[in-house]
Amino acid sequence: MPAKKQLRSQAWFGRGGKMGFYYRSFLKSMSLPDDQFDGRPVVGICNTWSELTPCNAHFREIAEHVRYGVLEAGGFPLEFPVSSLGEVTMRPTAMMFRNLASMDVEEALRAHPLDGVVLLMGCDKTTPALLMGAASVDLPTIGVSGGPQLNAHYRGTTIGSGTNIISMSEQLRAGEITEAEFRNAEGAMNRSRGHCMTMGTASTMASIVEALGVGLPGNAAIPAADARRDALARLAGRRIVEMVREDLVLSKLMTRAAFENAVRTLAAIGGSTNAVVHLIAMAGRMGVELSLEDFDRLGRGVHCLVNLMPSGQYLMEDFYYAGGLPVVLRRLGEQGLLHKDALTANGRTLWDNVYDAECWNDEVITPFETPFKREAGIAVLKGNLAPSGAVIKPAAASAGMLKHTGRAVVFENPEAMHTALDDEQLEIDASCIMVLKNCGPKGYPGMAEVGNLPLPRKLLREGVRDMIRISDARMSGTAYGTVVLHVAPEAAIGGPLALVQSGDLITLDVEARTLHLHVDDAELAQRLANWTPPPQDATRGYAKLYIDHVLQADRGADFDFLLGKSGAPIARDNH
Ligand code: FES
Repeated sequence: MPAKKQLRSQAWFGRGGKMGFYYRSFLKSMSLPDDQFDGRPVVGICNTWSELTPCNAHFREIAEHVRYGVLEAGGFPLEFPVSSLGEVTMRPTAMMFRNLASMDVEEALRAHPLDGVVLLMGCDKTTPALLMGAASVDLPTIGVSGGPQLNAHYRGTTIGSGTNIISMSEQLRAGEITEAEFRNAEGAMNRSRGHCMTMGTASTMASIVEALGVGLPGNAAIPAADARRDALARLAGRRIVEMVREDLVLSKLMTRAAFENAVRTLAAIGGSTNAVVHLIAMAGRMGVELSLEDFDRLGRGVHCLVNLMPSGQYLMEDFYYAGGLPVVLRRLGEQGLLHKDALTANGRTLWDNVYDAECWNDEVITPFETPFKREAGIAVLKGNLAPSGAVIKPAAASAGMLKHTGRAVVFENPEAMHTALDDEQLEIDASCIMVLKNCGPKGYPGMAEVGNLPLPRKLLREGVRDMIRISDARMSGTAYGTVVLHVAPEAAIGGPLALVQSGDLITLDVEARTLHLHVDDAELAQRLANWTPPPQDATRGYAKLYIDHVLQADRGADFDFLLGKSGAPIARDNH
């Protein structure tokens, strides 16, 4: 019989002498018996609980269920906090801190006597941050998402997080509802624990955790308030102990095949454009090649099967009752659109997990033959306006606008845009293309979710509800519209977007995958010669580090010095 491999944690807890005394004795202050240090798997419960991240405010309870599972399987659980990222409250953007949180996770995992980890993730950026950090260390890892909120209802209609904030704020600006009616919806929308219950970024990323095989089946959709979410956490706690014993490290799950499955899943669920940036960043940490072009290529031929807001009508609770992500994965697999043999955290292949998944509501999860939306994968656009690429989510766009030439109306930054939008003299009509600059990774900084620019008040009053909008920003996964995002290179570093002027003509052609500015090269060169970068006031601290090192959107907006992984070894003792 091969000798049992000594676990990483034994470099701390298995030691004699002074240092072994230190390592064990101080932990014993937490009422731990001596047998916890006997060589059993030590499992970190990496918690993004925070009252500043309300979507993750129930995570202490989830952590307890993970703890039960670890103990049941004979492991030694140790819960620890990492930076949390509350999407709606952090300024300038939660995205700016995604890389910081990922560094926190990476360094915490490597520095401590851990053999495996369960990642507790929920609100948008907490999922990629934890997966990026964990990928760079490559321990046995399971992801547990916190689950979506319950459906929200207001005055006889179902309302979805984010999506209906946008639609109701437009109704308010158009004078169709009162301020009191608008405010009354606040309590109705967020009525239970969990993250946004539309197919926004949080639900998209929870689905990706499941599609990558890093989460257990059911991870994407079980509501946070459902007891089965806690049971899933408990199972994850049990399973991670086995994974440590099997040495089932994250790099065996997050393979190129798994990322391809995730990209196709993103198309089939009509998921958030933010996932493009996050998946590229996660793959970059794991050393897996994943380009913007992969999203376009792999997404072709994949239909959107999931009729959820913001593209559709239902919410995550309905998705769960209809069968959840396993049904989507089964339907992809039946079309030959899945790497069926990709390994997952429970030790089975992805196909073994989903081949017999049953659908209980074909309106919520449509058959592949009669999909909710055809060919709705994220489209990658190129052209002289976006030499390194831009993205659009056709599932959330107006079909009639996907091929259009219009006159640009340019806003140099969000502040200028807000001032102009309510100006009755603004020269704009529904055929124009709104262009917003200086909202990219370096320009905002942190690539703000402002790409779905509000529409001008005077056009809202005329009943206009969508226009083409182009920017180097991102868009909330809960948002919708004919919105071209992530234009790279961004305006703040002198990308062609910086050179667009009001009155220029722009052609968007999604079928041809092009974004063209009708200004000749000589004129663009002249404009570039006269261009000056916008003022940058981040002169110190993390903001300075961010601006100095963040990559462009097409490369995942990670830091240039974080690409790749260093693994779990740590060269030096702490004495
Ligand atoms: Fe946290 Fe939407 S604000 S998931």
